[in-house]
Amino acid sequence: MRDVIEIETKRLKLRRLRMSDAQRIAQFCDDPGVGRNLAATPLPYLPSAAEGWIMITHARAPLGRDFVYAVDLPGEGLIGVLGAHQRGDGFEFGYWFGRPFWNQGFATEAAGAFVSEAGKLGDLQAGHFVDNPASGRVLAKVGFAYTGETKTMFSLGRGESVACKRMRYGPAATRSPSAHEALVMH
Ligand SMILES: CC(C)(COP(=O)(O)OP(=O)(O)OC[C@H]1O[C@@H](n2cnc3c(N)ncnc32)[C@H](O)[C@@H]1OP(=O)(O)O)[C@@H](O)C(=O)NCCC(=O)NCCS
Repeated sequence: MRDVIEIETKRLKLRRLRMSDAQRIAQFCDDPGVGRNLAATPLPYLPSAAEGWIMITHARAPLGRDFVYAVDLPGEGLIGVLGAHQRGDGFEFGYWFGRPFWNQGFATEAAGAFVSEAGKLGDLQAGHFVDNPASGRVLAKVGFAYTGETKTMFSLGRGESVACKRMRYGPAATRSPSAHEALVMH
């Protein structure tokens, strides 16, 4: 993961973030259907918030604790973002896609390719709010399984704490096949 610059899937390209992504990130995250299902995006979500987040992500890169990729749909541009962030001894996976691109298998395709790399970092976990079953479905399809734990997590987008179901990335045998992947390394 540390050396992976790009990951190509059948329909998508995962690449490093650019400052010029701020406008589309803000456009998609300034949507309660996205922001309310994330922990760290306030609503409204302004382009300046996206710019600040990209700047901080770039500034933290030398720490080697955050691996964040934009998801491009060729001919369209950025449609989502995926990341793995160090939390204690392991990594936490988070992701979102813009509403116009939901229910077309894009999250499953991108997340499957991403976690097959990010899983090599060590223990990889994720969580979804109890009222967001679509995310649980995607996580299960790419190889996460419920741990049985539910933790309360504050959502900036909701302004309140919400129960969050915890999941852990499982052994290779349980993963969906992620065909047509190509990695570009340093
Ligand atoms: C969750 C999210 C990433 C899914 O993206 P997507 O591109 O639509 O996902 P996919 O098309 O790959 O798969 C969606 C799956 O969820 C299922 N699904 C959709 N709505 C659902 C619902 N209300 N209940 C249960 N399953 C649902 C779909 O049927 C599909 O599963 P299937 O292939 O078995 O039929 C997207 O909705 C999103 O970005 N939401 C806002 C942010 C977010 O929730 N991020 C995750 C935080 S944990």
